[in-house]
Amino acid sequence: MSTRRQLPFGLSKLRRIHFIRLGVALIVLVIAIQFIPFGHAHSNPPVTQEPNWNSPQTRELAVAACYDCHSNQTNWRWYTNIAPISWLTQADVNGGRNNLNFSEWDQHPERTQRIVRAIQDGSMPPAWYTPMHPSARLSSSQQQALIKGLEATFGASTSSAP
Ligand code: HEC
Repeated sequence: MSTRRQLPFGLSKLRRIHFIRLGVALIVLVIAIQFIPFGHAHSNPPVTQEPNWNSPQTRELAVAACYDCHSNQTNWRWYTNIAPISWLTQADVNGGRNNLNFSEWDQHPERTQRIVRAIQDGSMPPAWYTPMHPSARLSSSQQQALIKGLEATFGASTSSAP
């Protein structure tokens, strides 16, 4: 404290330099991580087959709440270009597509029961995702409509898994 009082100018100048250095280091770091290749591909592979939706409304609900991560029609928003957000979104889309992909229904259909359970227990869409994407937040009546629609779709579809 006493040194501070004796050398106020010297100390605050030092502190300022310290903050400037820290700021520059942060900016350099943020720029540097942009060059890490993971997360920039933003691929939307071709749609090979969609489920045979029972109604346009069911598809609309699934598109709004699930398609960013569970289809080949991801809406890659501008900020998904910026690391580290790009890494997180890429990891989610990879994980989502591996588990359930409405755009490749012919190749790996998912059991209806599993999809319905994920909606019912509230784990899907993920809780951290909906605040940023309000249109993906399903009211309880929309949840019910989606579940009914999924059941109707896969009850009727020949390509659904048992
Ligand atoms: C923000 C991305 C995202 C959205 C939106 C999303 N999911 Fe997922 N989902 C994932 C990820 C990542 C996984 C794999 C990791 C895991 O198991 O938690 C997954 C896994 C799943 C699984 C398999 C695992 C399980 O819980 O049985 C199902 C089924 C599923 N999601 C259904 C849905 C449905 C239905 C919707 C829309 C109502 C939806 N998801 C919306 C990212 C998402």
